[in-house]
Amino acid sequence: MRIPTRRALWILLLGPATIPAGAASISYTVPGTPPAGSSSLDVAPVGVSFEFFAFPSYFTNVTATKQCLSNFRSLTGVWPPIRIGGTTQDRAQHDASASAMVVYTVADPKDAPAKLTFGSSFFKLAATYAGTVVIGLNRGYNNIANTIAAAKVAQKSMSNLRAIELGNEPEYYAGANQPIAVAAGSWTPGVDAKSQNSWIAAVGQALGSPAIIQAGNSNTDPPTWGAAELIPNLNSTSRSYVYDYSHHNYPGGTVTSLMSHSGIVNNMKKFKADVAAAMAVGKEYVLGETNSVSGGGAAGVSPTFGAALWTMDYVLHASVLNIRRTYFHHGTVGLCYYCWWGRYSMGAPYYGAYAAQEAMANGSYIAQLDNGSSAYAGYVIYDSASKPLRVMLYNSEYYAGSGTRVASNFTLSGIKSSSVKAKRLTAASALSRADNGAVPTWGGQQFADVTCSIAGTETFETTTVTNGSVTFSIAASEALLVYLQ
Ligand SMILES: *[C@@H]1O[C@H](CO)[C@@H](O)[C@H](O)[C@H]1NC(C)=O
Ligand SMILES: *[C@@H]1O[C@H](CO)[C@@H](O)[C@H](O)[C@H]1NC(C)=O
Ligand SMILES: *[C@@H]1O[C@H](CO)[C@@H](O)[C@H](O)[C@H]1NC(C)=O
Ligand SMILES: *[C@@H]1O[C@H](CO)[C@@H](O)[C@H](O)[C@H]1NC(C)=O
Ligand SMILES: *[C@@H]1O[C@H](CO)[C@@H](O)[C@H](O)[C@H]1NC(C)=O
Ligand SMILES: *[C@@H]1O[C@H](CO)[C@@H](O)[C@H](O)[C@H]1NC(C)=O
Repeated sequence: MRIPTRRALWILLLGPATIPAGAASISYTVPGTPPAGSSSLDVAPVGVSFEFFAFPSYFTNVTATKQCLSNFRSLTGVWPPIRIGGTTQDRAQHDASASAMVVYTVADPKDAPAKLTFGSSFFKLAATYAGTVVIGLNRGYNNIANTIAAAKVAQKSMSNLRAIELGNEPEYYAGANQPIAVAAGSWTPGVDAKSQNSWIAAVGQALGSPAIIQAGNSNTDPPTWGAAELIPNLNSTSRSYVYDYSHHNYPGGTVTSLMSHSGIVNNMKKFKADVAAAMAVGKEYVLGETNSVSGGGAAGVSPTFGAALWTMDYVLHASVLNIRRTYFHHGTVGLCYYCWWGRYSMGAPYYGAYAAQEAMANGSYIAQLDNGSSAYAGYVIYDSASKPLRVMLYNSEYYAGSGTRVASNFTLSGIKSSSVKAKRLTAASALSRADNGAVPTWGGQQFADVTCSIAGTETFETTTVTNGSVTFSIAASEALLVYLQ
């Protein structure tokens, strides 16, 4: 006969009411005030990046854009920060005589242009946005006069201008598909840093404005490329023109690896020294362009609910690491797997971004309750009076839609109230795609295709606190936001 497994024996002894395999009991104590090392929060840590050439389309020809951004404003009281840039910023030249916002030709509407020009109306459109804007300009072509001319128009026409980037992902300049003029000869992090130093000094001087440049903007991991490498190569003149330091990041991988909490913590460790280097010179550090998988995303990964959970955990952990703002990239309209919305449908990742922004809305400090070594996460957000405001709990176990969806118990202790309410972020599975009709829910609500308006009744779960402790059941591939006030 078959020898019973240990688990089968266990069931024989105790009956079927035992804890399913893979279920865990997780306990976190919520500190009454921000623990030492807590990070302070930006007013709107969740930002959006638009590919340079596609920005006018998003703002004039994609209905969802305005409402999707406005939904974030409803959470925080301010419009989310945006950044306009990307690979095509280094293919773009300013044409003061052009009346069009962008001029280019492509063989297929889903192609990104190999080169383009843009008129001053590009900045007029950016100026209509009621939130802050970072504009990425061209360094690759090594035409500093053109970039200074563009920067001056941006400065003059945009009261919402936060900063200007000089070049995008310069480490690729020497590669075949990139503008190479500035990278003629040898091109190393050190050579790029010298180039950044002289460009920052020249553009900063031309604009006559301190703290106007978002510097860095590499994608290759620190320490080879990044703020810690760049800063010592900038002199005091250039440093005075720097507003903040920015890096890009596309972790890639499978849905399982992407959404893994320990994987996220591990992926982001590389930014710690870079953030410290920026803070040591009194500057902020941001992820100026990021998303799940580079090159517009991966069809089997980027549009999924697992990628939504990645988005949520990633930006919360970024905030814990003192990364002030995280700008999630949006590329070619109509060919963008990681995009939060498109012309016709919503993307599941919007739900993760929205849940994270709601968790941090009006918060002043954030701390992580777990140590990053497991599949389970907890983040506590404090208000300006240093009182706990909300806790986000995340079960990053992968559930692909078949078999038992195992739930784990998360217990919070140190809770002062007699009951708490909570909102759940869930979907049928980690592979659910809003654009394929498997729409996630956030507290029972959903965002409509095309309009991005929120629909359904906001639903809270209420749980009794016993002796300062409260326990929630959170299934694999789910998150729960607990309201402590
Ligand atoms: C979670 O809590 C419930 C209710 O107390 C209990 O029935 C269940 O066995 C617990 N599950 C785990 C994984 O501890
Ligand atoms: C808007 O998008 C549609 C659909 O792709 C396209 O046919 C049209 O040319 C676009 N209009 C503008 C002004 O970009
Ligand atoms: C944050 O504060 C603003 C007012 O400044 C308010 O409109 C918004 O509802 C608050 N957000 C949350 C999630 O409570
Ligand atoms: C910093 O470098 C720039 C560009 O080379 C130069 O114009 C400026 O004078 C330098 N500043 C100092 C303080 O050396
Ligand atoms: C992290 O926490 C887990 C419990 O969740 C514990 O088993 C592990 O030892 C801790 N690791 C470190 C490095 O503290
Ligand atoms: C209440 O919690 C405290 C620790 O926080 C513990 O010592 C005590 O035994 C608990 N009481 C009950 C009735 O569970």
